[in-house]
This record gives sequence, C-alpha cells and structure tokens, in this order.
Amino acid sequence: MKLHFKRSFFSLLAFIFLLTTSQLVAQTYAKNGMVVSANKASSEVGVEILKKGGNAIDAAVATAFSLAVTHPAAGNIGGGGFIVFMKTDGDVTTFDFREKAPLASTPTMFLGEDGKVKDNSNHDSLLAVGVPGTVAGLYAAHQKYGKLPWKDVVQPAVDQAENGFEFIWSLYFTAQRFKKATEYPLMVSYFDDDNGEITEPGKLWKQKALANTLKHIRDKGRDGFYKGEVAQKIEDYMKANGGIITKEDLAKYDAVERKAVKGTYKGYDIYGMPPPSSGGATLIQMMNTMELVDWETIEFNSTSYVHVVAEAMRRGFADRAEYLGDPDFNPEMPVDKLISKAHAKNRFENLDMKRASVSDSVKFGHPYDGKDTTHFSVIDKDGNAVSLTYTLEHGYGVKMGSKELGFIFNNEMGDFNAVPGVTTSGYQIGTPPNLIAPEKRMLSSMTPTIVGKNGKPYLVIGSPGGRTIINTVFQTTLNVLEFNMRIDKAIEAMKIHHQWFPDVLTYEKHLMSPDTKKALEAMGHKLSARTSLGVLMGITFDTETGIITGASDSARPDGGAVGY
Ligand code: DON
Repeated sequence: MKLHFKRSFFSLLAFIFLLTTSQLVAQTYAKNGMVVSANKASSEVGVEILKKGGNAIDAAVATAFSLAVTHPAAGNIGGGGFIVFMKTDGDVTTFDFREKAPLASTPTMFLGEDGKVKDNSNHDSLLAVGVPGTVAGLYAAHQKYGKLPWKDVVQPAVDQAENGFEFIWSLYFTAQRFKKATEYPLMVSYFDDDNGEITEPGKLWKQKALANTLKHIRDKGRDGFYKGEVAQKIEDYMKANGGIITKEDLAKYDAVERKAVKGTYKGYDIYGMPPPSSGGATLIQMMNTMELVDWETIEFNSTSYVHVVAEAMRRGFADRAEYLGDPDFNPEMPVDKLISKAHAKNRFENLDMKRASVSDSVKFGHPYDGKDTTHFSVIDKDGNAVSLTYTLEHGYGVKMGSKELGFIFNNEMGDFNAVPGVTTSGYQIGTPPNLIAPEKRMLSSMTPTIVGKNGKPYLVIGSPGGRTIINTVFQTTLNVLEFNMRIDKAIEAMKIHHQWFPDVLTYEKHLMSPDTKKALEAMGHKLSARTSLGVLMGITFDTETGIITGASDSARPDGGAVGY
C-alpha cells in the first residue's frame, strides 16, 4: 500500500515536471504518441485519432486531410508527396504519391518559339498542374496499414472545413494579399466569411465547398476524387480554363509503395524516400561523407564545419542533378552506387579542407526554395512512425481551382526540367532523367526521414524548402546523431545551404559569426545571407525510457507538437 502510494506520488511529480518543462522549453514530451505539424489544430486532430486507438498511419492520414483545411498553402488534396513509414517490427516502407505529368504533356510544352519557357507557364498556368496524388497516396497507405475505418480518419477534416476552425493571423495576412490578386479568382474570395469579407482572426473560418469534396472522399475513398462527380468537375474546370488534365488522367493515377533507401551513420539506420524524390539518396550520400570527417578536430559551427558540410552538399547536389528522376522512366539510375560508402569515400578524396571546390558548369540548380511545402512527423504507442512531406510546390500552388470543389491545384510541373538539353550555370537544368513525359513523376527534393536505432524509431524528421529541404534535414539529422543535440536545439541551430549551382553558400543571417564569414570567403566560398532555412518538424524517441520528445520549428509559429 505504502509502496503503491509512493509510486503514484512520484508519478505525479514526474507528470508535473514534464508538464511544466514542456511549457518552459520548445519541446513537448509524451509517452503514448505524438504528432508534430505546421498547424497545432491539425496535430491535435492526429492525436485524437491516436487516442481513439488509431495507429500512426491513421493519425497521419487524418492530419494530412486536416492540414488541407487549416494550412492550405501546402496542406492539400490537390498536390502530392511522400510517406516514410516504420512499423513496430522495425521494417520500413514508403508511399510515393508524387503528381504525374498529364497524358497530353510533352517535353517542350512550356517553351515559346525562342526555345525559352513562355511566360513562366511551367509555374503560372493550368498547364503547370500535375495529376494530384495526395488522396490516392493517403488511401493506399491507409488500405494497407490503417486500423480505424477510413471514414473516421477523414471525418475530422470534414468537420473542420464544414464547421470552421479558428482563423489564424498568418492566414489573415495572406487573405489580404490575395484580395487584390484578381488574376486568381478562387483566391480573391478564398478566405471570406459568409458576408463576403475576409474572416476576422479568431473567428471560425468555414470552407463549405472543400467540405463537400472531402465528403466524397470520405464516402467513396480514392474513387471519391479520381472518379465520379469530383473527377468530372476537375475535367470541366480544366477544359474551361486551358488545362489539360482529363478524367482519364485521374482514373489512371496510381500511388506506389516503394522500398525505402537505407543508409547508416555510426550505428544508426537512416531510411528515406527513393526517387522520384532525390531526398533520401542525397541525404544518405551526405551523411556517408560526414562519417569520414574527424569530428575530434572540428567544432560545431566553426569555419571548418561549415566548409566540410557545404562541400558535402556541393557533391551531393551535383550527383542529384546528373542522375536522378522518376525510377519508372529511368530504370538505370545508380541509386545504390550513390548511397554506398565507397562513393562517399571517392567524393571525399578531392575535398580540400582549406579551399572551396569550384562547381563545374555541367550540373545545375533551381531557383525556387520557399517554405510552402509541409512536413509532419507522427509516432504511436506501439512505435509505428510516419514521416510525411507533401506539397503544392509553390505556396498555394498554382493559385487556381474550381470554386465548386474548394481546393487549390499544385504547380508541380515546374519541378521537371523544362528546357531539354539546356543547362546554365545559374538555375536551369536540362538533363534527361527529369524531362517531361506523359505519366512521369517530376523529381522532388522532399526528404521525409526516419532514423532507426536497434529497429526502433529514433528520429522522425522533415521540412519544406524546395532544394534546401535536403540540406536542412541533413544538418538536423547530423545535429542529433553526431552532436547529440536535443531535438529543439537541432532544429533551431544554424543551417547552411549549397546546391552545386549556383555556386553560392547560403547561411542563416545573424547565426554565423563575422569571423567565420570572413574565413569562408578567404577560402573561396561565395556567401549569401537568408533570414532562415527550413521549417523542421521533428520527433525523437528514447528507446530506454519510452519518452517521446517533439519540437516544431520557430520559423512556423502556427506549428505545434502535440502528444499524450
Ligand atoms: O518537390 C519538391 O522538391 C518541391 N516541389 C518542393 C517545393 C517546396 O518545398 C516549396 N516550399 N517549401
């Protein structure tokens, strides 16, 4: 009896300690499960599903649909993305629900007579829309691994869209911007209340048309989107406004379960997304390079640290540009070679610790690396973990869509190499693996990642940020595995970015010392400052204590780690 009392007394103390600490620091602790996403209300939706007995996949599906309501800049049903899923037994699989090029697309579809991309049409026209994959991907993952009924995991998003959720300031600012953007009729009134005014912060924002579309998906599964009324309305909208996606495109779309790419770092297992994302392979290649570094001689954030990390990035991105694309169209891609320890050793050999390498002008970069993709991480009480990143490409995608359907289409076709054969030392890549072809998936940088330790999840992490995604996930992973940082510190620590071309080393303003900057410039690096890099949403799991720790990047104040 006494012992029993003592035990509960100490449990209470521990609980109060955890409660208070979780309010004092940027971390959240839990024992049974957690969701960390870019919108706290959506993290709560996911955790409610866990509490109802759902597993990590159920919670991920519910969170993803919810973010399509609460975070429409990137949360979506009109875009695509990737899931990395670690099961209780330590086995890892992935789901590829990247958008596909429509059947009527061609390699030169965006070019004008001068051979250049016409009027930014690969991003700013309905031709830029890839066949959406999100609903098919979430459905496929749920069919195979979900526990709760499909309807139960879609319903919370229907409720949020139908009954409204608290309109947050970030949406309010965006709404004001779009009010004047008459070229995007859907967006002008997207955030309005019933009186046709922008919803006031703190009031409920309702999205009736989106709620109706979500009901079709809730009631009919993937067919609720890819067939029937919704598919017909998508085709009608496309036809009426110059798009090329048809009901046939939608009916033919498939999400694919693929084998994860796997690497190791000093005893940890790193699992990532295989192509058509370049994220997993490039991350593993760079981590392999880091394994060759003598960390006894290099301080975190020192000049040598920044130099060696940047050089690993330069090499990783050079290979990415040369080799990677949709595996269904590039059967010979040397992914196994790229992620091998031997390849990293080769790449490390010509790395001069005193001098920046020069990016040669055959491999290239990409101009867009905003923050409007979204990542979330989930873990459940049985140790299932989900790392999910999905996107519309730009913030609010192509900013177009049918008012009747209430969702926004992606502009993911912009991720293909638009000008075949033309590669410049600026941003343009024209290499073959990522040229447009009907039903091909465009190369991505999304890097949902799970690090395992002894067959259990150890770190679940990912970020938005275009090409910077690979590098911010890489550095956060290194921070946890090599420097033993707490997850919040690992997320907030200074990030840099190098993508081979343009040959520029980007760093987070205010976080690099003037001395380091000078020393790096003297080594030949061309520096460029950026307010921040990455919006990381991460979970770590302590296999000994069973404590789950989560943190959401301060770059996204609406985000939240919610556990129970
Ligand atoms: O798949 C990709 O790599 C890009 N479409 C992601 C775009 C992105 O991350 C934009 N904002 N963060």
